[in-house]
Amino acid sequence: MQQAELIWMNGEFVAWEDARVHVLTHGLHYGTGVFEGIRAYETPRGTAIFRHRDHLDRLLRSARLYYMPVPYGLEELRAATHELITRNGLASCYIRPVVFRGYGQMGLFPLDAPVEVAIAVWSWGAYLGEQSKRHGVRAKVSSWRRISSDSLIPQAKACGQYLNSVLAKIETHQAGYEEAILLDDAGNVSEGSGENIFVVRDGVVATPPPDADILDGINRRCAIRIARDLGHQVVERDIARAELYLADEVFLTGTAAELVPVREVDDHPVGEGEPGPITREVQALFEDALYGRAERYADWLDVVRVPSTAS
Ligand SMILES: Cc1ncc(COP(=O)(O)O)c(C=O)c1O
Repeated sequence: MQQAELIWMNGEFVAWEDARVHVLTHGLHYGTGVFEGIRAYETPRGTAIFRHRDHLDRLLRSARLYYMPVPYGLEELRAATHELITRNGLASCYIRPVVFRGYGQMGLFPLDAPVEVAIAVWSWGAYLGEQSKRHGVRAKVSSWRRISSDSLIPQAKACGQYLNSVLAKIETHQAGYEEAILLDDAGNVSEGSGENIFVVRDGVVATPPPDADILDGINRRCAIRIARDLGHQVVERDIARAELYLADEVFLTGTAAELVPVREVDDHPVGEGEPGPITREVQALFEDALYGRAERYADWLDVVRVPSTAS
């Protein structure tokens, strides 16, 4: 991983190597934390964070769902992130805020453990690789089902919940595929291990609804909006596993991966076995939005500004 100089931790800027926690940190043992994955891009208006407030809003909501009072407000976290990017001298980066139960209390009852907050930024290229964005990935349906609302909170981006994605990711990686697709408890398509999923058939774009236990992805919403703006019909509905094999096009969306076509599912080529025209069209406009080239989506970008006294 490409280190940066500083990390923001509990209100202070500390050297990257000094951003440490005790081995008895509650979140390390029980997964009691929530986090976000955010990206900042180099745009004509300067470094800009994509859908920044939406991500911070989801972070605070995830924390609430797990009874974690966050000692900083959205605007404080936003300002800290702006300053952190500036002080690290990064023109573009990945941003990882994490809120977790810290050191001081063990046992499952977490409410007496302190709530700590850290924000790290670093340079991180496309999660599934630049080649994947161009040519698509080979995906496999995992034997692990997506966590269900009966036992956890799929709508929260919580640390412990990611053991589910980790199992699916390892399974499909060991089998020689690049990404995992998880089904929900009912056997319908839910999402990728770290991305939402879209299926295109006969010109109609479909994506699983929130009750398929998906994380309500911020890029999912962007892709829906962009596809509709381009004149395509987009529906949120249950998707059967076999529809992945019958689809003309399949693509994934997420902050880390961005918009990635799927060219094969369970060894069935998707369409012609290469990214299809609707995927390409949505991907092109989505990337224009990320890099500040699409005026109509300019308000999705939070341009990094630091008051002159801060740096
Ligand atoms: C499990 C899961 N689903 C979906 C997504 C996509 O969410 P977003 O577009 O908000 O990054 C992510 C990434 O954060 C994820 O981890």
